[in-house]
Amino acid sequence: METFKNHCFSIVFLVICSAALSLALPQVQRHQFVIQETPVKRLCKTQNSITVNGMLPGPTLEVRNGDTLEIEVVNKVRYNATIHWHGVRQIRTGWADGPEFVTQCPIRPGGSYTYRFTIQGQEGTLWWHAHSSWLRATVYGVIIIRPREGEAYPFPKPKLETAIVLGEWWNANPIDVVREATRTGAAPNNSDAYTINGQPGDLYKCSSQDTTIVPIDAGETNLLRVVNAAMNQPLFFTVANHKFTVVGADASYVKPFTTSVIMLGPGQTTDVLVKGDQPPARYYMAARINGPKPIMPPLPAYNDTNTVTAFSQSFRSLRKAEVPTDIDENLFITVGLGLNNCPPNFPSSRCQGPNGTRFTASMNNVSFMLPQNFSLLQAHQQGIPGVFTTDFPGTPPVQFDYTGNVSQTLYQPVPGTKLYKLKYGSRVQIVLQDTSIVTPENHPIHLHGYDFYIIAEGFGNFDPKTDTSKFNLEDPSLRNTAAVPVNGWAVIRFVADNPGVWIMHCHLDVHITWGLAMAFLVENGVGELQTLQAPPSDLPIC
Ligand code: C2O
Repeated sequence: METFKNHCFSIVFLVICSAALSLALPQVQRHQFVIQETPVKRLCKTQNSITVNGMLPGPTLEVRNGDTLEIEVVNKVRYNATIHWHGVRQIRTGWADGPEFVTQCPIRPGGSYTYRFTIQGQEGTLWWHAHSSWLRATVYGVIIIRPREGEAYPFPKPKLETAIVLGEWWNANPIDVVREATRTGAAPNNSDAYTINGQPGDLYKCSSQDTTIVPIDAGETNLLRVVNAAMNQPLFFTVANHKFTVVGADASYVKPFTTSVIMLGPGQTTDVLVKGDQPPARYYMAARINGPKPIMPPLPAYNDTNTVTAFSQSFRSLRKAEVPTDIDENLFITVGLGLNNCPPNFPSSRCQGPNGTRFTASMNNVSFMLPQNFSLLQAHQQGIPGVFTTDFPGTPPVQFDYTGNVSQTLYQPVPGTKLYKLKYGSRVQIVLQDTSIVTPENHPIHLHGYDFYIIAEGFGNFDPKTDTSKFNLEDPSLRNTAAVPVNGWAVIRFVADNPGVWIMHCHLDVHITWGLAMAFLVENGVGELQTLQAPPSDLPIC
């Protein structure tokens, strides 16, 4: 449940020159990420924030396709922590994926863990973020993956590259915000600002001198690597008087197309080229109407579904896509909110949702609960019973008019830790169907461990009789996060060729908190190359 706030962000283009990029050889890169409390001043106020290495956003990782990363994460704060490398396929290295209680137990205060993984066949922009409670509000950064040495972008090399991370800022400890929501059962407080590269920008008080400035030379091209790291908001992004050429998303290239505005659900990335083809000046990148001096862009209304649809239907893979056909597993999964009746032993202060309820959410009516004493992957690999079951339903337990006027009797999902088992190599299709329970929303559904093709999207209820003809099996785009249209559906396909336990969840963090998630258990195949690696010796245990 998100209400629009008349917030905005702004950053400014300046016409100045800048140094060229440095080259990196294919290699094993070693880094240390220290999760620590850092005084951060935003919106006139200094508060202690959880950061990586004292930076907000955290350090940018710049690698090439084929590189291996070894990142020692040291937890120096009083909270549990993990880091997820969002979109990295983690082939056979599920232990390095990061979601707490899914692929590892959290790194406890004072502990550390080294994530080891290799970038395989991915180029473009991904990002990393904490995957524990709401720590990711301030613990996030960009992963830039360039082509292998000697290989080139499939577009003219831009003179400059700039990472643009969209985020949210609370004048409060985000962990307290989510704890309060969990206590009351109500929606969490909205953030106090949207940020670009960690800065609210000069439309907010006390923020103008820190506004991010992106240089661009007249006549030159800048590659903007845009990441939506916001907690709970799909965001439009635009630059005044300039057009974007979209060239990539979620670390896969797309057929270039031009647009004046892009839309990203939380978790998604989009690479765009922008050319300095306008008179030298300062141009705002995304802002509300506020009449300051730099040239302001018009932005679509927050609920402008038409712009979202036109934009998302422009995505095509650059080359012919290897979309799986002959589907082995055909799943239909509803995604949506819910309301639990107030438990009899709860005071009304704990049931502050609509009409004295508590907010919840589910997939196929199962509200996902994380285990507490083992990670799912550890329980699977060691055969520990009682941690999860493998009876996640492949279709909704009750069929109803998902996007219509849904009866209140269908508002209460069942809590559970249910996984869906997939044989190695099975070809999977999933219809992700939004429901209008409580309120329809654009849910950014993220699958760990895989990229998937989005072969169709539409509004209303998915109908196999009429909608199958809309499937694009030629050149659909490869993504790790699908923005399921509000009151609509999206169909995704992938081959389950990465053994392990992989969570699939809504990337609106408030919805994960409420249980809008499930997980796949992908079995090993034959031989070492189809088998999950052994767990690292420093894997945190619970
Ligand atoms: Cu970027 Cu499970 O998340």
